[in-house]
Amino acid sequence: MMDSDIAGPEKSPLPVLKARNIVKRFGHVQALGGVDFELHRGEIVALVGDNGAGKSTLIKCFSGVYQADEGEIEIDGMPVKIHSPMESRHYGIETVFQDLSLAPDVSVAANVFLGREIEKRGLLGKVGFLDYPEMQKRAAEYIREVGVNLPSVEIPAETLSGGQRQAVAIARARAWASKVLLLDEPTAALGVRQTEIVLKIIKASKIKGMGIVVISHDLPSVLKVADRVVVLRLGRVSGNFQAQSVTYADVVSAMLGKEFKV
Ligand SMILES: Nc1ncnc2c1ncn2[C@@H]1O[C@H](COP(=O)(O)OP(=O)(O)OP(=O)(O)O)[C@@H](O)[C@H]1O
Ligand SMILES: [Mg+2]
Repeated sequence: MMDSDIAGPEKSPLPVLKARNIVKRFGHVQALGGVDFELHRGEIVALVGDNGAGKSTLIKCFSGVYQADEGEIEIDGMPVKIHSPMESRHYGIETVFQDLSLAPDVSVAANVFLGREIEKRGLLGKVGFLDYPEMQKRAAEYIREVGVNLPSVEIPAETLSGGQRQAVAIARARAWASKVLLLDEPTAALGVRQTEIVLKIIKASKIKGMGIVVISHDLPSVLKVADRVVVLRLGRVSGNFQAQSVTYADVVSAMLGKEFKV
């Protein structure tokens, strides 16, 4: 097995997201020990690794939840500092966290537009109030785009199944992301059929020209949709493979260390 010898498909000369030497410490724990990472438009990268390898920490450095202690991040070749989730979204990056962060007691439509509500201008263009019909119409469109059937976008998120919630979270992220979609364990806790649906949604998102990162412990599933597989081990990149030519054994060895044979 060879490590780190394969680059991603060069669809655009500049990576949409590039990180160099990302170091992140939590007290005495070094979660990331100098990670280089590249993502191109229209590319799906599976980010895999054992528990505690640093996967969530890395994407949280991109989504503005954490700030790296060292290293540089570029978006479309432009050096950026991402200080907050709001700044991350401003750069066209949307994240679906493992806990999904849907508000349980408000409607699907309200969740899709959380923090980005559409205002309707009142008389004289002065009085702003929320344009619920427009938000419902657009939310229904976004949900339809991901190919999931919901009875209505007016029902509260807490009444949805796990797979439907996942689909709403992804639909929301897809709707707002212009450059990068980061998905942390989007198929965790889903059944076979719902996993297939979510994987289909992820694959279909490529046509929007975004770069997509999918974190998953479900190697066989994620290998089906990924163009490239990046493996983290103990906070460092231990493998970088083209998905079409990599074997399951290569990925597992990179995840667990060379001494481990499968
Ligand atoms: N907020 C935090 N405070 C302290 N330590 C943290 C924090 N977040 C992560 N860590 C530590 O950083 C390391 C990497 O954690 P991270 O959550 O990135 O792993 P992961 O690859 O996402 O694992 P998993 O597959 O279990 O989700 C772990 O040792 C973890 O304990
Ligand atoms: Mg994690």
